[in-house]
Amino acid sequence: MTVKYVPEPFRIKMVETIKMMSREERIKAMEEAKYNMFGLRGEDVYIDLLTDSGTNAMSSKQWAGVMEGDEAYAGAKSYYKLVEAGQDLFGYKFIQPVHQGRAAEKVLFPLKMEEGKVAISNMFFDTTRAHVELAGARAIDCVVEEAKDPSHRAPFKGNMDVKKMEEIIKEHGAEKVAMIVMTITNNSAGGQPVSIQNLREVYEVAKKYDIPVNIDAARFAENAYFVKLREDEFKDKSIKEIVKEMFKYADTFTMSAKKDAIVNMGGLIGIKDDEELYQLVKGNTISFEGFVTYGGLGGRDLEALSIGLYEGIDEDYLKYRNGQMEYFAAKLDDAGIAYQAPVGGHGLFIDAKAMLPHIPYYEFPGHALAVQLYIEAGIRTCDIGSFMLGNDPDTKEQLEADFEFTRFAIPRRVYTQAHIDIMVDALIRIKENAGDVPGYRITWEPPILRHFQAHLEPIRK
Ligand code: F0G
Repeated sequence: MTVKYVPEPFRIKMVETIKMMSREERIKAMEEAKYNMFGLRGEDVYIDLLTDSGTNAMSSKQWAGVMEGDEAYAGAKSYYKLVEAGQDLFGYKFIQPVHQGRAAEKVLFPLKMEEGKVAISNMFFDTTRAHVELAGARAIDCVVEEAKDPSHRAPFKGNMDVKKMEEIIKEHGAEKVAMIVMTITNNSAGGQPVSIQNLREVYEVAKKYDIPVNIDAARFAENAYFVKLREDEFKDKSIKEIVKEMFKYADTFTMSAKKDAIVNMGGLIGIKDDEELYQLVKGNTISFEGFVTYGGLGGRDLEALSIGLYEGIDEDYLKYRNGQMEYFAAKLDDAGIAYQAPVGGHGLFIDAKAMLPHIPYYEFPGHALAVQLYIEAGIRTCDIGSFMLGNDPDTKEQLEADFEFTRFAIPRRVYTQAHIDIMVDALIRIKENAGDVPGYRITWEPPILRHFQAHLEPIRK
């Protein structure tokens, strides 16, 4: 099937040169990085798909905003502009800037959670899970079953399993459930969207048991675009109207603005109407982030963020963004390369288990493919599988993940059709000689979040 590339609704005004390296140089760089993708120097990477977070290209309007940023410690003009943009888009009364997504979690979660409590999500992102646990609570994932089969195509694979969620609430007792977190889109399940129908159902059950709902809103605009394409009720609504509707079904949100708000640094907390909670959020912000009106950011960042929020929901931009992913996915379909299907909003998650069946989970197929992509083509991706999951904290045994993915996270407005073609060609070449790709063993690992720092070596059989 041919899918036409949707042309960029922008032109290029400034370029950043990337270094061209030989295969031999890349092999050496990978060895020096101890076969850890996070150990590579950014300048040794040709196409950097490690994350779509903070790696996006700002527009000329955002850069102009940077110069307009008001750096007043208290009461900066840029702060008021950002608050107004947040209120306008999300319909929430209180908007608090913070320096990134995990800062929003650090400020808000301890106000709602404590030891002995649980939080339930369609799927927690790693830092979100970590902040639930740091607040003393336990995090429970409750995504729909269909998300777990990469070849099963469904429109909303990011959804919460509402029936199971209610069973978990009953099992623990409603008073023990501190929060429900709806991650939109569902990053860990492959950037898969959540329907408004699902948000409504979750909110209804949450209200029945008097449990607060928080939206983890990093990729809210991509989610709204999927709703427009796939949920009949919203096909004629604007993205702005859909965003408003999505946020009706929550009480608060935490947002990493480094994704859909197209900035390099920034985050937000939104509170629908609870003034008492807002006072507490302000207190924590002052302790951890800085004064309320800058929240760990420069005035220039606040300015760029308030502009980026609107650029992120522009329909021409979202059409191009989604089109780029669809183009990539269609080429993989032609080549018979399996991925979490249909393609998600911000990334393509290759099913490394299917491509490298000779590598068992404890030799990390997702990681093995990531290393090979760097050696073959200078492309940096990362493992979302057993390597990232780590060991059982009690037995120290390697755990087996539900998926063995290699994530191609696509930065916004950065790479072109030719770059996507290079990604596809590299995957095809690796698939042709898949049997030659070695598995990996860990030679050193730190006690927590090991995937960022571990040293590895190939297993030559
Ligand atoms: N929530 C989600 C769904 C995320 O994807 C991320 C970050 C965060 C929260 C934390 O935000 O990085 O601004 O502190 N995801 C990045 C990624 C890092 O690569 O997927 P942050």
